[in-house]
Amino acid sequence: MNILIVKYLPSGSKSNTLGLLNHFLENLSTTHNITEVDLVKSPPKYFDELTLGAYTKRNFGGIQLDSIESEAIKPLDVLNEQFINADLVLLALPMHNFSLPGIVKVYLDAIMQSGKVFKYDNGAPVGLMNKMKFVTLYTSAGKYLGDFDFLDNVKTLLKIELDFMGIKDYDFVHASSGNPDTFESEFTNAKQKIDQIIQSWNL
Ligand SMILES: Cc1cc2nc3c(=O)[nH]c(=O)nc-3n(C[C@H](O)[C@H](O)[C@H](O)COP(=O)(O)O)c2cc1C
Repeated sequence: MNILIVKYLPSGSKSNTLGLLNHFLENLSTTHNITEVDLVKSPPKYFDELTLGAYTKRNFGGIQLDSIESEAIKPLDVLNEQFINADLVLLALPMHNFSLPGIVKVYLDAIMQSGKVFKYDNGAPVGLMNKMKFVTLYTSAGKYLGDFDFLDNVKTLLKIELDFMGIKDYDFVHASSGNPDTFESEFTNAKQKIDQIIQSWNL
């Protein structure tokens, strides 16, 4: 299986979320072809006038790009191709300000290309990634349950994006790191959930 790790862990070796990612990787029971995108070391390119113009021209207009446009959009295409070739994506990130850290959204904007991961059929969007599996591993200081779940925009936004791409097999593993009294149980539970995912997907 081709596994793509996409991580944004700016706390480095002290990262709480890294513990979840390492647990996942250490407990895989079969051999996989693993590729990693580290968004701290290699931040994705964001749209500017040239790249956005090229994207619109090619992906929505069906018009061939000139060499300057092709070159400008290449970094986004490299990420898009890498994403499309993955059977399983592991996305690891901390919650920042109730949502995805901005650079992760920039990554999603790079890979979510029309005609590649979704298309329009008579004006209706159709997801093209229905064979992909996707797991988000994330931590936050708080725990957003019940009436407060609307504050967890990591989950809300990713669900929308994953559904839009037609991904059916996706899951979220979360641990809350902010309360020292529950820290250990939070991470134990999250690791158990990882074990269950590995087992049920025969990874
Ligand atoms: C810039 C910044 C913003 C944060 N925003 C939130 C937040 O909105 N909600 C929350 O519960 N925790 C927030 N936190 C806490 C982190 O999500 C939490 O400590 C997490 O476990 C950090 O993961 P890491 O150790 O992998 O970096 C924030 C931390 C930082 C540094």
